[in-house]
Amino acid sequence: MKLNDLKDKVILITGSAKRIGREISVFLSQYSPKLILHYYKSHKEVSELLSIVKQYNQNSYSIQCDFSDKNQVEQFIKKIREEKIDILINNASIFPKHDKWELFDSSLANQIFYVNVIVPLLLIKNCFDAPRSGIVINFIDASIEKYFSDHFVYRLSKVSLKHATKILAKELAPYVRVNGISPGAILPPAQLNKDNIIEEDLNKNEFYQKTLNSIPLKIHGDPFYIIQGIQFILENDFLTGCVIPIDGGEFL
Ligand SMILES: NC(=O)c1ccc[n+]([C@@H]2O[C@H](COP(=O)([O-])OP(=O)(O)OC[C@H]3O[C@@H](n4cnc5c(N)ncnc54)[C@H](OP(=O)(O)O)[C@@H]3O)[C@@H](O)[C@H]2O)c1
Repeated sequence: MKLNDLKDKVILITGSAKRIGREISVFLSQYSPKLILHYYKSHKEVSELLSIVKQYNQNSYSIQCDFSDKNQVEQFIKKIREEKIDILINNASIFPKHDKWELFDSSLANQIFYVNVIVPLLLIKNCFDAPRSGIVINFIDASIEKYFSDHFVYRLSKVSLKHATKILAKELAPYVRVNGISPGAILPPAQLNKDNIIEEDLNKNEFYQKTLNSIPLKIHGDPFYIIQGIQFILENDFLTGCVIPIDGGEFL
């Protein structure tokens, strides 16, 4: 598929309002697909984004859902089933601060797994349950290739999503291609504050300076490299079950 063929396609992007999700949405919008922009807390940001993407396709719209709330997810899926989704980008994710092995807690673990694994799988299941062509891109994390005890359940959730990407690539072939992107240090970590609103820990320059030492290529991350990954996955019809690390070699 060429990006110019996106014109007649319907694309669902979860967590689209800010950061990497926003960059992907703005990039894809110029090819005029119908974009369904999922968001959770970022009302203001998504309405600003919608005004940009609607310049290219008036049918694009935003849709709110808290992926940790099973009832909301059920309603969300009902609405999504009314669409014929061609491309699903599972980008939304939670990255709680107090997710350490010492503080292991089953209710937080369930929440992280629900948002980061179960909802992406439910979306794949419901967007592509009939045999027709489609593309899924799951967002993983390059750091899962090494073993750290901070963000413990988050890491386990991303390992699961990576594994699921490969299983589903076989399961959904030949109709649907299922791939993933594993970002490295692209943007400063976003943590949820007490109102569940995303805040970045460091400003970008501080973050890039801090991460440079551990990146073999000695250049810092940027959402631009993720966009290049998205383009590659969309355009390469022979690619499935592949999770591409985009991390400057940091986790080799
Ligand atoms: N940034 C990096 O350098 C990096 C590194 C490794 C992996 N990744 C992965 O790449 C993807 C994008 O990264 P990012 O840093 O841009 O992501 P992010 O800012 O951490 O999260 C993306 C979006 O997820 C949504 N979200 C959070 N909690 C939710 C909930 N309960 N229900 C529904 N949506 C919820 C938020 O939407 P609202 O804003 O609308 O609330 C948020 O904007 C993520 O999957 C992340 O794990 C990123």
